[in-house]
Amino acid sequence: MEITPSSTPPKKVDPKPHDGMEAELSKLGNHLVTKFHVLIRISQIYDSKNVALHQFINEFLETINTLIKGNGVLSLKIVKDDFFLNDQRLRYSVEGFTSFKYLSTQWKKRLIGEVIFRSLMGEEMLRHFIYAFINLEEGCDENADLLKKQLESQQITSIEVNPLEIVEGEEEAFTLQKEDRREVGKKIFFETIGTIKDVITNIKGNQFADIRKLKRLAQKAIHLVIEDESILLGMTMIKNYDEYTFNHSVNVSIYSLAMGKRLGFSKKILTELGITALLHDIGKSKIPREILNKPATLSSEEWEMMKKHPLMGVEIVLNLKQLGEINPRMVVGVFDHHLMNDLSGYPRLFLKKGVSLFGRIIQVADSYDAMTTPRIYKKIPYTPEQALAVMLREKTVHFDPLLLKIFIGLVGIYPLGSLVLLNTHEIGIVYKSNHDPKWLDRPIVLLVDRDAQGEATKELIDLTDTDRAGNHKWSIVKTLDPYKYHIDIAKYFL
Ligand SMILES: [Fe+2]
Ligand SMILES: [Fe+2]
Repeated sequence: MEITPSSTPPKKVDPKPHDGMEAELSKLGNHLVTKFHVLIRISQIYDSKNVALHQFINEFLETINTLIKGNGVLSLKIVKDDFFLNDQRLRYSVEGFTSFKYLSTQWKKRLIGEVIFRSLMGEEMLRHFIYAFINLEEGCDENADLLKKQLESQQITSIEVNPLEIVEGEEEAFTLQKEDRREVGKKIFFETIGTIKDVITNIKGNQFADIRKLKRLAQKAIHLVIEDESILLGMTMIKNYDEYTFNHSVNVSIYSLAMGKRLGFSKKILTELGITALLHDIGKSKIPREILNKPATLSSEEWEMMKKHPLMGVEIVLNLKQLGEINPRMVVGVFDHHLMNDLSGYPRLFLKKGVSLFGRIIQVADSYDAMTTPRIYKKIPYTPEQALAVMLREKTVHFDPLLLKIFIGLVGIYPLGSLVLLNTHEIGIVYKSNHDPKWLDRPIVLLVDRDAQGEATKELIDLTDTDRAGNHKWSIVKTLDPYKYHIDIAKYFL
């Protein structure tokens, strides 16, 4: 993904309608990337004649031939960090992330940018292709030609190979450097989602859940948050409807860490906070799915059950077999996260006590993320701005006012992910808040625009920029509802 600062005004928004065919292509494309990944790995272990390869070859063939049959010609191309299947960008699933990453690295190392399959593939053809590919020397400019020649020597002429297109220039080098951190951010984000998913699945099945991996990921996230918090904060815009529990836990953890950083916590305390936030709703793993995903209002019994999740969470955390990783601060944080500032929340307490700092931090993060995420019972969530307004209305009663203030400082007056209308009639997305308190109303904005192929362009503008006369080039006129404009905010943060 390219993010370049620019002052060129973009064209107007032209949202692309969702298409069933595209969804199917995208699904098969994801399969193809996964199978390609597996095949490369396997072929690095076995020689080309090995029978162990048979099954993997067949699985790959099935997917690729379905795609070739359906489309006539199949092009798999890499542009920057994305794969394009017949010019459609493939969006990867959480599970697919590792395969995408692996495959794009393998292609890039060998400077291969595109492979076009012009007719159905057979087993022998595929074996030749894969082994010729893995045997290419890394970093050799001639690789695309060499691969083509190798295939031709085996009478394979229906596969076309093109080299990787590298955009040159200083600006690009700068972008790439920045991109690296984003890549690290994406990796941490998706890996943490995958790991929390495993932890929850294991807890549900009463199996051993390894939270040490969560700890390692929290430490990596802290490193990144300290370097540049905006990268992971941007990831919280990925509101995955189907994977709510996992995304939610990770998002709450990111917000909590960013708040903890501003509170001056040490790395050790930040790690504890990060893990606590990841596990805050772990008690929900013992609540039936029908209740968790009920589209209608909960009955009073169901609600009573739901209100038990902080306590059930405590029980689960205490039963984890790695108690060495857990301390009382973390257990109390899980217990406290719905208590509310005036203790009007749940669980009901017989003995009044204050809400722990971890509990208060997680509560702010939890409410904001829950309000801004579409749910089965509330398909259109609050916009970031609306959510903050609700929280501000409820401050002192529900939230620690000081923490809420820190949180607003974090997400800005125009919170991250807000869709805004500028005085130039352009539409933008708030991408990063400006940390100088003087410029809280002048964030970095990503202009919403598409290129000739209909793909979103990624141009950043800084609202503190002025023209020669000293006037601001852009100002926010008002915020807009992304649902009305059919804009998928998350896409701009990936
Ligand atoms: Fe909760
Ligand atoms: Fe929660």
